[in-house]
Amino acid sequence: MNKITVKASQSYDVIIGSGLLAGGAEYISDVLKSRRTVIVSDDNVYPLYGEKLKASLTAAGFEVSEFVFPHGEQSKSHEILLDLYGFLAARNITRSDSIIALGGGVTGDMSGFAAATYLRGIDYVQIPTSLLAQIDSSVGGKTAVDIPAGKNLVGAFKQPKLVLADTDTLSTLPEAFFDDGMGEAVKYGMIWSEELFELIAGGNIRDHLEEMIVKCVDIKREVVETDEYDKGLRMILNFGHTLGHAIEKTQNFCGLSHGKAVAVGMYLMTKAAEKHGIITENISDRLKSCLETNGLPFSADIPADTLFENSINDKKRFSDDINVIICKTIGKADIVKLPISEYKKLITE
Ligand code: GLY
Repeated sequence: MNKITVKASQSYDVIIGSGLLAGGAEYISDVLKSRRTVIVSDDNVYPLYGEKLKASLTAAGFEVSEFVFPHGEQSKSHEILLDLYGFLAARNITRSDSIIALGGGVTGDMSGFAAATYLRGIDYVQIPTSLLAQIDSSVGGKTAVDIPAGKNLVGAFKQPKLVLADTDTLSTLPEAFFDDGMGEAVKYGMIWSEELFELIAGGNIRDHLEEMIVKCVDIKREVVETDEYDKGLRMILNFGHTLGHAIEKTQNFCGLSHGKAVAVGMYLMTKAAEKHGIITENISDRLKSCLETNGLPFSADIPADTLFENSINDKKRFSDDINVIICKTIGKADIVKLPISEYKKLITE
């Protein structure tokens, strides 16, 4: 078992290890004031782990109810959020009570946003069950729902009271979701740690899963502690995301999954930066080989003009400039502010 303490506006532990769920209440009891809580989960995850968690909480004296919603990104919506608010109100959840998010990124983001806004803020605990949520989205307090104009456009910063990452839950994760998380894991190696990159590039990552998760979370801890509100350093976590989001948008969010689109975005940006002399070492070949070893794509059949157009409405754009994240070497990221005209040349020429 590994424990990483995140010292943000609210300090909390991220506990990572095998077999944590069955005894989850032990950790949760230490951080929650009240013994009344709502487990929020989707209809894929709750049947697998919900009752085990509920039994552990009930045995520890919690009064528990569960809000289970249909799985999938389309549920990260105001409709489901309103249902959740209604559920919390019907259960007389007060300011001293809490929410426990059990699931992947959709569950964590939406539960966190509900916790940030219901009664102007109640406590919540993250129990991430996907690789992507364990290494990235459950840590750092970014919460959101989607609106028709775009993903994650309505959100809040709200740090959890605890993150409990039981690595056993990854054994039931379908391969495609595992690969999705690996896209973000490669990103952590690229932006911060050549050692982590080499661990992933070496293949057989399932034999080093806990080590990899701990390394990713520790990087995220350092980034979030330095820049909790995403005004500077935290932007490096968007490496691969500007083009990745453009790919997802071009494919109407029905093509490559998020982590795979990020994989392609990292490669295309690195290759373009090499071509334009922004990067002087050849790192794109190492990145490509690492992606291939881990079953991740490095190209998408989308014209460069379309990618450019679909990437400039990104949240990272500031008036006529755009912040582009570029790794000039493996293990280090730079935030490069480019006028849109130069960015266009970088992507399309
Ligand atoms: N997932 C990016 C961030 O937390 O900032």
